[in-house]
Amino acid sequence: MVYVTRRAFFCAAHRYYDQSLSSEKNREQFGPCVNTHGHNYELEVTVVGEPDEKTGMVVNLTSLDAIVKKRVIDILDHKNLNVDIEEFKSVVPTTEMIARYAWMRLENCIEGATLYRVRLYEDPTLFVDYYGEGEHAG
Ligand code: NI
Repeated sequence: MVYVTRRAFFCAAHRYYDQSLSSEKNREQFGPCVNTHGHNYELEVTVVGEPDEKTGMVVNLTSLDAIVKKRVIDILDHKNLNVDIEEFKSVVPTTEMIARYAWMRLENCIEGATLYRVRLYEDPTLFVDYYGEGEHAG
């Protein structure tokens, strides 16, 4: 099996805030992240499969790019995640939860290969890996 990773980029704003808690408790739990702020996210999508005998490719990169763009980047780019994305109206849009969101948007949508991992960088100091909940889950 060969693992192929494609990288994509988007910018988004978010804040960490739990509506069921007081402002004081939110600030205690999330610090300055309670204030709306932005990140330049880097999303790495890794697929696994056997290279096609004719094309030599695990996945058609043009198709993969189109799916990642349509299913994730175009949805999240230049958005305020807490306000614009239904899922994050009730779920705190942490790097963890955005990675899982991207996984769910991409799983079973990639023709000819299997989604193996979603890695999401929030900035150079933090990234999250998500392997789904299936047999590959790490
Ligand atoms: Ni943040």
